[in-house]
Amino acid sequence: MPSLEGKVAIVTGGRRGIGRAIADGLAAEGAKVAILDVVGAEEAAAAYDGGVGLAGDVSSEMDSARMVEAVASRFGRIDILVNNAAIFATLTMKPFTEIALDDWRRVLEVNVGGVFLMCRAVVPHLRQQGGGKIVNISSGTFFRGVPFMLHYVTSKAAVIGLTRALARELGPDHICVNAIAPGYTVTEATLEHDEAHARVGAVSVNARALKREQRPEDLVGSALFLCGPGSDFVTGQTFAVDGGAHFQ
Ligand SMILES: NC(=O)c1ccc[n+]([C@@H]2O[C@H](COP(=O)([O-])OP(=O)(O)OC[C@H]3O[C@@H](n4cnc5c(N)ncnc54)[C@H](O)[C@@H]3O)[C@@H](O)[C@H]2O)c1
Repeated sequence: MPSLEGKVAIVTGGRRGIGRAIADGLAAEGAKVAILDVVGAEEAAAAYDGGVGLAGDVSSEMDSARMVEAVASRFGRIDILVNNAAIFATLTMKPFTEIALDDWRRVLEVNVGGVFLMCRAVVPHLRQQGGGKIVNISSGTFFRGVPFMLHYVTSKAAVIGLTRALARELGPDHICVNAIAPGYTVTEATLEHDEAHARVGAVSVNARALKREQRPEDLVGSALFLCGPGSDFVTGQTFAVDGGAHFQ
C-alpha cells in the first residue's frame, strides 16, 4: 500500500519546480494533494486524482487562512504541510547596500511570514488529528553564506530557526517540523534567468561531491521521508540535499 494513503497534503508554491516535484511524489504515494500558489495552482492540481488548486498569497493572513480552511472543508483533514513558496529566482544579485527596503521587507514577508502564517493556519488541524508533518524548504545558501542576496539568505536562515523552535513547541502534539536545504537546483525559475544560471550552476556542480546538476526530483526522496511515517521520531532537523556540497 502507498505510504501516504488517506493523508492530505498541502504544498505551497507547488505549481512548478521543486514544489511540483514534491507534490507529484506525495500524490504518487497516495496522498490527496492541495496546491496553493499565486498563479497556476488549479492547472497543476488537475494532474492529481482529487487534487485541489487554490490561488492566493501565503504572506496574506486572509489568503492563508482561507486556503487552509478550503482544504480542510474539502477533505475533512490535513496531515502534511510543505512550505515551499518563496521569492527566489526573480531576485537580482546585488550588494546589500543596493537592496531597497521594500524588497527586503517583501522577501522576508513571503519567505518567512508566509511560512509562519501557513503553520499558524494548519497546526490546529494537525493537532485535531493527533499529529502531522511540516516540511519547510530552506536553502543551501544559508550554509555557504552566499553573498549578494542578503534578503534571500537571511530569509532562508530564518526558516531554519523557525523550524527548530517550532519543532520544540509542537513536539508534545506529535507534530514533526523539519527543513530541507536544497543546493542550486535547475528549475523553470532558474532557467528563466539564463546568465545567472550558467554562472551559479557551474560553481555549484564543482562544489559537490556528486558532480552533476541538481534537479527537482532530487528533493523528492527526502521530502517523502520527512512527510511519511519513517520520520516519526525526526524533528527540528535540516537536511542538506545538495549532492554533498556541505557536510553537517
Ligand atoms: N531552485 C533552486 O536553486 C533552489 C535552491 C534552494 C532552495 N530553493 C527553494 O525552493 C523553493 C522552490 O524554488 P523553485 O526553484 O522551484 O522556484 P519557483 O519560483 O518555481 O517556486 C516558487 C513558487 O512559489 C510561488 N510563490 C511565490 N510567492 C508566493 C506567494 N506569496 N504565495 C504563494 N505562492 C508563491 C511561485 O509562484 C512559484 O510557483 C523556494 O522556496 C526556493 O527558495 C530553490
